[in-house]
Amino acid sequence: MAGSSSTPIIFFSFLAIITSFLTIAVLPATVSATLFTSSRWIVDYKGQRVKLACVNWVSHLEVVIAEGLSKQPVDAISKRIASLGFNCVKLTWPTFLATNDTLASVTVRQSFQSLGLSESIVGLQSNNPSIINLTLLQAYQAVVYSLGKNNVMVILDNHVSKPGWCCSSSDGNGFFGDQYFNPDVWIKGLTRMATLFNGVGNVVGMSLRNELRGPKQNVDDWYKYMQRGAEAVHSANPDVLVILSGLSDDKDLSFLANRPLGLTFSGKTVFEVHWYGFSDGQAWKSGNPNQVCGSVVNNMKRQSGFLLEKGFPLLVSEFGVDQRGTNVNDNRYLSCFMAAAAELDLDFALWTLVGSYYLRDGVLGMNEYYGVLNSDWSDIRNSSLSQRLSVLQSPFRGPDLSQFSRHKIIFHPATGLCLLQVGQLGPLKLGPCAQSGPWSYSSQTQKFLTLEGSYLCLQVDELEKPAKLGIICRPPNSQWDTISDSGLHLSSKTLNGTNVCLDVDSSNTIVTNSCKCLSRDSTCNPESQWFKLVDSTITRK
Ligand SMILES: *[C@@H]1O[C@H](CO)[C@@H](O)[C@H](O)[C@H]1NC(C)=O
Ligand SMILES: *[C@@H]1O[C@H](CO)[C@@H](O)[C@H](O)[C@H]1NC(C)=O
Ligand SMILES: *[C@@H]1O[C@H](CO)[C@@H](O)[C@H](O)[C@H]1NC(C)=O
Repeated sequence: MAGSSSTPIIFFSFLAIITSFLTIAVLPATVSATLFTSSRWIVDYKGQRVKLACVNWVSHLEVVIAEGLSKQPVDAISKRIASLGFNCVKLTWPTFLATNDTLASVTVRQSFQSLGLSESIVGLQSNNPSIINLTLLQAYQAVVYSLGKNNVMVILDNHVSKPGWCCSSSDGNGFFGDQYFNPDVWIKGLTRMATLFNGVGNVVGMSLRNELRGPKQNVDDWYKYMQRGAEAVHSANPDVLVILSGLSDDKDLSFLANRPLGLTFSGKTVFEVHWYGFSDGQAWKSGNPNQVCGSVVNNMKRQSGFLLEKGFPLLVSEFGVDQRGTNVNDNRYLSCFMAAAAELDLDFALWTLVGSYYLRDGVLGMNEYYGVLNSDWSDIRNSSLSQRLSVLQSPFRGPDLSQFSRHKIIFHPATGLCLLQVGQLGPLKLGPCAQSGPWSYSSQTQKFLTLEGSYLCLQVDELEKPAKLGIICRPPNSQWDTISDSGLHLSSKTLNGTNVCLDVDSSNTIVTNSCKCLSRDSTCNPESQWFKLVDSTITRK
């Protein structure tokens, strides 16, 4: 046996040497970060938590080229992603890039030309001359390598089959058996991509398919094909996390509650969910924010959040808002989302990095108001919003620290800040969550919010006055309840029994005011009074 196979082995290693030589010549050193799962956490080889704080970068539209390369050098974009605190990109790709060799070998220039995008060619030529003559598949690889060189991890996201904007339920890309969604072709595409990126250290995950949907969707086929897809990816590339999305536009994984997915491997399976303001239509705008937040979060926990308790990581692989801050539905959703994302300490991928598209839905240079970058990709679109969201990028908890007693931080989702004492004797203000507390709170017993390591507890002074810290902790003015359907109001009483809620004034000082729009009223906005007691075991930086 050994003798008969020696020739092919030598031949193979000769090829391998040549290939790795070429690889070294072309590829810079990249981060190597094989990830695993440990119960609900994504961890590195030491078992330490790696929180995926990703941003979506679109590369699945008709041109099949990562967006923005006509505006900025790829390396500058990668560097900006890292400087914004994201450790990961979810990079989308259409199946046909991997299964249609004719498409894969079209050059970037030809792809723009065929769509009449001459301005983009000029832009690409000046910003990314090393990419303009590459094939589409090589250009995709070049983006992955640039991210790796800048220590940014990548999730390869199979977004559609046929290149183009996603997702309608009748676009032929929605479910197994749809016009463009042949399961065998899909498996072939997944296998090819998994193989192509085997050994590329910064590619840490592959999501099998974006937003399954449409009239054909059903649970039995989900198990049948997702299992095949997961096994195919794992056998072609055992290093990557295998990320599985649910039904109904990736909102629904509830079927997994009673029927587990049988896989031959373990320690690599992650589920993903999408959660936008518009996932619930205009409910946020037309309803009372406390009631909508309460019911939407309960729904989310029933449809996907329960997987955390079943011992699987859950990646919110799409969420985001109109960054202009003018969409009331989005704005109300975002505060509620942030409270839940902090509470559950979810891994995430923000939609989207993209400032504008070469061509989307037939519109040239379409501006992306959900984009982190502005339309010419030169700067952040909304720095205060990006700052606010950045609180989610650091972990609150992790598997390695779970044996220590948990303390709380008091998180204010409307600002992304936390409640803290300024100086030893200073006022209570909102500030960086890393400096918050630690607080302790027991919902069963006294309900005091105590600054750990001190005798000081949070107290009501008077209505519409700053809250204070005191050492004589007793009811009624030191006792705090979480109230309203959202559970996001912290309520107490003044000494003479008036109900108050914790609030923030215009200078970010913590005050106590009358509780706002606890129910029914859909016109008023309670967000300034929304606080979440978040478990935290990690000393945050
Ligand atoms: C493959 O891609 C080429 C180039 O885009 C296209 O003309 C052709 O129709 C594609 N073939 C299939 C089977 O989709
Ligand atoms: C790309 O190809 C064109 C010809 O199609 C050539 O003029 C140009 O110099 C090439 N650019 C690079 C950077 O190789
Ligand atoms: C950024 O978003 C906030 C709301 O989060 C909004 O008030 C503000 O006007 C936005 N700024 C810009 C420059 O769009």
